[in-house]
Amino acid sequence: MTTSDRRLFPASFSVAPMVDWTDRHCRYFHRLLSKRAILYTEMLAAPAVLRGDRARLLDFNTEEHPVVVQLGGSDPGEMAETAAICAEWGYDAININVGCPSDRVQKGRFGAVLMKEPQTVAACAEAMGRAVGAGGRDVPITVKCRIGVDEVDSEEYLAHFIETVAASGVKTFVIHARKALLRGLSPRENRTVPPLDHERVHRMKARFPQLEIIINGGLASIGDCKAQLEHVDGVMVGRAAYQTPWLLAQVDEGLFGQPSPVKSRVEAVERFIPYVERRLAEGVPLNAMTKHILGLFHGVPGARAFRRVLSEEAPKNPTDIGILHKALDHVRTVKADSVAAE
Ligand SMILES: Cc1cc2nc3c(=O)[nH]c(=O)nc-3n(C[C@H](O)[C@H](O)[C@H](O)COP(=O)(O)O)c2cc1C
Repeated sequence: MTTSDRRLFPASFSVAPMVDWTDRHCRYFHRLLSKRAILYTEMLAAPAVLRGDRARLLDFNTEEHPVVVQLGGSDPGEMAETAAICAEWGYDAININVGCPSDRVQKGRFGAVLMKEPQTVAACAEAMGRAVGAGGRDVPITVKCRIGVDEVDSEEYLAHFIETVAASGVKTFVIHARKALLRGLSPRENRTVPPLDHERVHRMKARFPQLEIIINGGLASIGDCKAQLEHVDGVMVGRAAYQTPWLLAQVDEGLFGQPSPVKSRVEAVERFIPYVERRLAEGVPLNAMTKHILGLFHGVPGARAFRRVLSEEAPKNPTDIGILHKALDHVRTVKADSVAAE
């Protein structure tokens, strides 16, 4: 990549969409750790948004911006209607899921199976862009895909997929650098068994310099992200960001040269507490929020006790903020608790 390319697309860092994990409480917590991270919702099926409890699915905290909603679907009409609603709701971008391999999703004919139908993805993206524009909103439509699926896994095919979808106006592609196997592997195995091929994603950037290419899959540290940003416009981190969220506190400084918004893990929890109290008052159970911070102290003394108190006692005491204070007492004296200590 040349320097001028990089100026066209300022580097980006995002936390991957993850069902059951990146809900609004999780995203609020992640935002306390990084101002620069782009946050994603869990995947929402378009029919659920159209016919379900819309506020429950779509509401987010204003602090979460920039926040991207991820949609699953393959019917251009439904996807367009859903996109218009999401744009109106205030999301900063709308991402189409072309990577999820689960059975349930395949039956609905969306997710990774759509790698085999680039024209369908293009038709959805085009209709979504038109619907969002008609509402007077400038909200980009983006795509998250795999490098291949089943037997459709050649480099040429991936380029054909990207080219076809880009013709509908999509300028940003997040590419999970492993193929998906739709039969025989569970969704979990589909995140570990097929080998990573980061280089193939780099070659897509070289081939389509005008597109924003964001790489995903297997990145576990700021160093990993920096190395990838030599080749592509952005990095997306999933499991490592969720399981060891302190990684996020190093993003602003490590990747963007800006001060971290929190000085220590303890400070991060203390700043999360007022939010937790507000939500408890609304009836949200404690564990629905504290489950997202279990890995915060990973690798420092007291981490086990912190995790144990929260995972054992929060589910049994759904209204008691005291459990969070009790967990925090186990890690308050941690010496190595600072951004610089990493
Ligand atoms: C619990 C879990 C749920 C996930 N749900 C989604 C999802 O809703 N949409 C999606 O595009 N990918 C989903 N993924 C895949 C991640 O977004 C990401 O592509 C994958 O984990 C690889 O990145 P990583 O190696 O950094 O974790 C999920 C992953 C996990 C672990």
